[in-house]
Amino acid sequence: MSMTDAYGSPASDANPEPSGPRRLACSIRNLTKDYVLKSETVHALRGVSFDVPEGDYAAIMGPSGSGKSTLLNLLGCLDQPSGGSLFLGEDDISTMTDDELAEIRSQRIGFVFQSYNLIQQLTVVENIQVPLYYQGRLGPQERKRVIDLAERVGLGDRLDHRPQQLSGGQQQRVAIARSLVNDPLFVLADESTGNLDSVTTAEILELFDELNEEGRTIILVTHEDDVAERAKRIVRLKDGMLHTDEVVSDEQRNAAKDQQLQAVQELLARQ
Ligand SMILES: Nc1ncnc2c1ncn2[C@@H]1O[C@H](COP(=O)(O)OP(=O)(O)OP(=O)(O)O)[C@@H](O)[C@H]1O
Ligand SMILES: [Mg+2]
Repeated sequence: MSMTDAYGSPASDANPEPSGPRRLACSIRNLTKDYVLKSETVHALRGVSFDVPEGDYAAIMGPSGSGKSTLLNLLGCLDQPSGGSLFLGEDDISTMTDDELAEIRSQRIGFVFQSYNLIQQLTVVENIQVPLYYQGRLGPQERKRVIDLAERVGLGDRLDHRPQQLSGGQQQRVAIARSLVNDPLFVLADESTGNLDSVTTAEILELFDELNEEGRTIILVTHEDDVAERAKRIVRLKDGMLHTDEVVSDEQRNAAKDQQLQAVQELLARQ
């Protein structure tokens, strides 16, 4: 048997999967999604194709109704496409059953919802733990991980607060910490910085930078140009189709970051 994998890298028992920069986190081919209503059918996605290499950081933009959330939901295994194919790694998720999708979701994907989706009766710690309950995994190691994550998103002093006792930005951080509790390789975020002040936005984007530097693939949906310019790539949708797909240069990324830091400093100086 050959000791190299399909990509020519040495095979390893610990990691039998092919590795290297050409591996794809996902591959989207001619993806369509129709919502069939009583009176009409909405063609939310009309044949979208693009690849996302592992470790990429993409911002999805486009007018309201252009299909951004629909696409993110499909990538997050929350819904099934009407046509086309959608590979996450090697797995074609367009043909999977609901149970198989749930399995992939709980093992590989961290999803940050636009509306946070926190459980009002639970504390910060308990909300972050929710995905672990579903997996029946909640030993001392997991509990420590939950506290570490709460601290990482700056909520170490709010562990027993309930969502109503938190600001919007803090709730968003709980949602981000919860999305990371399964140590996902793929983080999907829908409008995570919408309606947040510049300080919180800068902090959340800093966190996304760190997660991406750790090797996680990030796809976020945003309406804001300066948020999108923090990503490595901007994919624009229009009328359910791919409109443009552009690389963000390092200069552009740094300029966007500087601009945001300046806004933060101006805000802090006024307080
Ligand atoms: N569950 C659904 N049932 C029927 N139609 C839907 C459903 N979800 C979305 N749509 C329709 O599909 C289209 C795409 O919606 P989607 O939510 O993906 O847009 P979006 O780009 O995320 O918009 P926004 O920026 O406003 O969040 C819209 O025309 C919307 O009305
Ligand atoms: Mg949306």
